[in-house]
Amino acid sequence: MKNTVRSFKQILACMLAMVFYCHAQSQASVSAKDAKKISKDLFGIFFEDLSYAADGGLYAELVQNRSFEFNPGDHAGWNPLTAWDYTTDGFGYGKLSVETGLPLHANNPHYLVLEIEEPGQQGIGISNNGYDGFPVKANAVYNFSVFIRQLSKETIPVKVTLQSKKGIVYGELGFSTKPGEWQKYTGTITSAQTDDSACLVIKATAKGKMAIDVVSLFPQNTFKNRPNGMRADLGQAIASLQPKFMRFPGGCLVHGDGLGNIYRWKNSIGPVEQRLEQKNIWNYHQSLGLGYFEYFQFCEDIGAKPLPVLAAGVSCQNSGGTWRIGGTGQRGLPMDEMKQYASDVLDLIEYANGPAASEWGAKRAAAGHPAPFHLQYLGIGNEDKQTDDFRERFTYIYNLVKQKHPEITVVGTVGPAPDGEDFNLGWQYANQLAVPVVDEHYYESPEWFMHNNLRYDAYNRAHSKVYVGEYASWGNKLKNALSEAMYMTGLERNGDIVQMASYAPLLARIGHTSWNPNLVYFNGTAVVPTVNYYVQQLFSTNQGDVYYSNKVLFAGHNAADTALAASCVRDSESGDIIVKIINTNNTTAAAKIDLSVFKNIDPVASCTVLSGDPNATNSIEQPKNIFPSTAAFKAGKSFVYNAAPWSLSVIRIKQKAKN
Ligand code: AHR
Repeated sequence: MKNTVRSFKQILACMLAMVFYCHAQSQASVSAKDAKKISKDLFGIFFEDLSYAADGGLYAELVQNRSFEFNPGDHAGWNPLTAWDYTTDGFGYGKLSVETGLPLHANNPHYLVLEIEEPGQQGIGISNNGYDGFPVKANAVYNFSVFIRQLSKETIPVKVTLQSKKGIVYGELGFSTKPGEWQKYTGTITSAQTDDSACLVIKATAKGKMAIDVVSLFPQNTFKNRPNGMRADLGQAIASLQPKFMRFPGGCLVHGDGLGNIYRWKNSIGPVEQRLEQKNIWNYHQSLGLGYFEYFQFCEDIGAKPLPVLAAGVSCQNSGGTWRIGGTGQRGLPMDEMKQYASDVLDLIEYANGPAASEWGAKRAAAGHPAPFHLQYLGIGNEDKQTDDFRERFTYIYNLVKQKHPEITVVGTVGPAPDGEDFNLGWQYANQLAVPVVDEHYYESPEWFMHNNLRYDAYNRAHSKVYVGEYASWGNKLKNALSEAMYMTGLERNGDIVQMASYAPLLARIGHTSWNPNLVYFNGTAVVPTVNYYVQQLFSTNQGDVYYSNKVLFAGHNAADTALAASCVRDSESGDIIVKIINTNNTTAAAKIDLSVFKNIDPVASCTVLSGDPNATNSIEQPKNIFPSTAAFKAGKSFVYNAAPWSLSVIRIKQKAKN
């Protein structure tokens, strides 16, 4: 049985809750009993390497296919030379081949061999196109590195240039190869000009032969200046959401396209040249350069609790395109492999939290972070089909984590939809095992979000808590964003059992989207937060930890009006009272706000409003078409607020210190 309304008793409870809600909307009377504590971790983010969110996105690496590991299994027609060109501009000639004989590391099998028979006037070599070109800025410094094994006797001079497509050089560096094994060569290049689509060219200018691998170029200015770090502008856009947690690295990416494609966290740590790259379920490639260390570090840098998700020992039910025939692609790891798999799960906890002297804590320390990352939440599974195979493997992992690490809050999974078979079976099983939190997902119409504001009012408080791990209405118009805002007031009201919530997906590169809508769109140089982003930001930056009922009355509207919603929370740390009001009518709505339960209201308050044409969106041409504006506001114990048509208003009120 699912956790929503089922039995007569539950229907009754639901009706009572609805009556209470209507009352909450229409009554101005207040009392301290109307206050309840809500989750401090309520609003966070979900990051998935989808639509080039990681490689070609947040991960600041500018070279595409840096390790020559692309292959047709990633994407039809791809190969180790995808994104690369062979360049012989100055009439030189030679040979270029892809080889695997003596790789830099077994996890990184392919490399290039360049044989220079005649260097001509300019040398011969390779050039990379990056992701839609290299976006370089005048005076910006770029960190270059490459691994080379000199295969001929004589040393070979190498020239690296950042240049325009037509060959205008913006900056360069040079070095000479040394004999012996694979060696790493590093240097910096300063660009003399700004160009959105430059390219990186590496040329050998004397006869000889060499092997080349892991060609890398990063802007020196990454988010918080981390090496192997994140793109500064995208990192900042995420940080500005002030997310309380970050779920990563997916989604479907985690349980993978078949057993061989399950995301294995251990493959994503250590020196980047030793990470095991693999196909991305979203039809491209994962370099894993943005791996578990970088995720944990980024979470720390933005003040978000990490919420890693590991597969429950089964692959995605849609593996091999089986969504077309009803999602029969789920496979379970053989049970004799589950011992090792589950022990990898325990190792992740040690990697995040263990002492620097422990086996896995030492690897974290070696990466530059001896202090723990304070892992509290761990997701097991992602909207998996609720089969016996799933249950057996989930239970195996869950029991082990519970036994060895009772301090960790496991987040289970209840299918891909807000109801239906997997949802019901998932809840039933989660309740049976007493899983602390379960992850619900839903992508629905704006009307669905408006009409389901009461969804959690009737949830059983004795059952597992809820993580709304993925939700979005179908679009990026203001009306979509406001429907989400209305729904989020319901999440706040139920913040005693809704532990966390995150919009999905987060990032998408324009021209490479596998999923729409998203919260933030970007290209090489621009970042476009959607209207939905501003709703998320207004809720997250105005999140309280105590919820107050019965504070807002909409005059002249009946309580069943699903075009209006409101909430009132208090943030214990700042002492601020925050009232949120959403009006999705075409006319102004007068809201009577009664704050008489609070002492010493400071009349000097602020009000931030997001409003406009319900069909308006933000775009690369008009990134701030719909944008919140903040103004001073005069508050009092009781006042009337006129909410503009199609608006979200956030009134933030201080309480004066007693003297
Ligand atoms: O958010 C996009 C996808 O939606 C996620 O990968 C998956 O969990 C869900 O189906």
